[in-house]
Amino acid sequence: MYAPALDGEFARDVCAGLQRSPLKTLPCRYFYDDLGSVLFDAITRLPEYGLSRSDARILESSARAMVDALPPDLAVAELGSGTGAKTRLLLEELRRRERVVYYPIDVSEQALQQCAQELGPLGDVYPLRMSYLEGMRAVAGRRAPGQTLLVLFLGSTIGNFESDAAIDFLYAIRTSLEPGDALLLGTDLVKDERLMLAAYDDPTGVTAAFNLNLLGRINRELDADFDLRQFEHHARYRADAQRIEMRLRSKTHQKVTVRGAGLIVDFARGEEILTEVCHKFRPEQICGMARAAGYRLEAQWTDQAWPFAESLLAAV
Ligand code: AVJ
Repeated sequence: MYAPALDGEFARDVCAGLQRSPLKTLPCRYFYDDLGSVLFDAITRLPEYGLSRSDARILESSARAMVDALPPDLAVAELGSGTGAKTRLLLEELRRRERVVYYPIDVSEQALQQCAQELGPLGDVYPLRMSYLEGMRAVAGRRAPGQTLLVLFLGSTIGNFESDAAIDFLYAIRTSLEPGDALLLGTDLVKDERLMLAAYDDPTGVTAAFNLNLLGRINRELDADFDLRQFEHHARYRADAQRIEMRLRSKTHQKVTVRGAGLIVDFARGEEILTEVCHKFRPEQICGMARAAGYRLEAQWTDQAWPFAESLLAAV
């Protein structure tokens, strides 16, 4: 399901991105329509994509310590909750201490419904179908006196921002917080290059399908005529920028019409569209990023099997 209210925005973003020079781009947040969300879920089950399992493992083994690090009377908000499967681990631990108050924030109605259904029995669940920042303002507006906010931003979604934008975003979240509130930030860590690459270029081809579906979505929603067979998935690791880049490469010289965006685009043979950047972090970099955005690193939990970190940042 695609929210009609965002239609104009999708057309504008596609229009601007495909006219960029020298490198065409498309925003990665549009991966997640119904089909894209299912494909992402399939990615999380790939043997090569260790990230989600590692994230969940740390939450499971450290939930107790995380809850203990925070004062009582907590309200938990989650940015991009999805179905909230990982969050359950934390909320169940919190429930042993107090009544759970949980605000899942997501743009997917379907994900929110499933989340509310599955986590509803754990306490008071208030789904917010909004962008992250709108959702944070809504949560801040409903804060009860004496309540502390814990914001969850899991799964290394922060890695999808350009480095400056990541700090700007964390700072924007900070403006909805009071000193003493906390942000639990999940970040995938730098590891062996072959492992990082395989996670984004799996032999089963699920990530390729996930990437190509972005063109499929443009076809469906913006009346375009991308021939998906004439593009190929490409992932590379750029050590200089410490990030994976996902691209779609045109196999031939071709023209594509996007009627819903009033656009005809020309692709040279071999020309690429940058669709996603996924930064990988070193544990010590998270501290610097936190400080630059108005937080202090309180605690950090990592997993060795698939290097990943969960960092608890306190708003200062
Ligand atoms: C959901 C943003 C964490 O960057 O690893 C997975 C998205 N892209 N495979 C990531 C993704 C390709 C994922 N995040």
